[in-house]
Amino acid sequence: MSKVSMGEMLRDASRRGYAVPCFNAINLDMVRGIIEAAEDEQSPVILCHAEIHFKYTPLEQIAPIMVEAMNRAKVPVSILLDHGKSFSAVTNAMHLGFNAIMFDGSEYEYEENVRRTAEVVKIAKTLGVSVEGELGYVTRPKSGGAEGEDDDSIIDDTSLYTDPEQAREFVERTGIDALAAAFGTVHGVYLKKPVLDLIRLERIRNTAGVPIVMHGGSGLSEEDFHKSIDHGASKINYYTGMALKVVDRAKERFIQSEEKTFYHEFMMNVIQDFKEDAQHIMRTFRSSNKA
Ligand code: 13P
Repeated sequence: MSKVSMGEMLRDASRRGYAVPCFNAINLDMVRGIIEAAEDEQSPVILCHAEIHFKYTPLEQIAPIMVEAMNRAKVPVSILLDHGKSFSAVTNAMHLGFNAIMFDGSEYEYEENVRRTAEVVKIAKTLGVSVEGELGYVTRPKSGGAEGEDDDSIIDDTSLYTDPEQAREFVERTGIDALAAAFGTVHGVYLKKPVLDLIRLERIRNTAGVPIVMHGGSGLSEEDFHKSIDHGASKINYYTGMALKVVDRAKERFIQSEEKTFYHEFMMNVIQDFKEDAQHIMRTFRSSNKA
């Protein structure tokens, strides 16, 4: 099956009531664990790399690994530049074989977000690349550990949530394939129990006319995920939970083991941990057996 357009993938999810998991995969171990999980679960999957993570893994180094994983996979896979903010990151990702771009113009005022997003869509369309835009603003609180720059006090600022009517216009004017919406999730670790505005999510789903994306998946309950999917989330981004859990498991293993450990043993355990976490997420998002 391998390479599939993200737009098509998400329209299928929207029709059949599941969400495609989108994992930030910052190295080969993550890519291997996630793809193994998707193949065992028969789940479509999106691998992504965020511009904010280029300082850990340059785009040029991870791109060939992701492209090869996508082309070889036995399930539908799409690879996405996550939170692309600079024009150079967007064009480099397309050049390196990414078939989806999330252009994040959410820091700009509305007209500028429309203008920049539409410009990315214009180029992407000529190359058959899907585009996700963001309207409203999903915060990254400083103490939430998602390398955020936002003041923690803005987490509850509902004025940053996506306006459903504006969503309709934003989609029409930009031509995006999917819309990242703000309705109460945050990136990183939740500093307070999340309260999701599901009524708003459903209104956005009904007005936007394209599949809706939920960012900041880590830290939500199974019930939050199910309700979000039922109210319109067709793609859910997930990173922090996986990144923390795998390190916790590695620590436990080190404490329990008195034997010396070779790096290759450590690596294979880490791949297995990423795989198990990704499988759990796929079952939760109801994407298992949807490939
Ligand atoms: P979390 O790290 O909070 O799961 O969010 C991931 C995300 O939204 C990436 O775009």
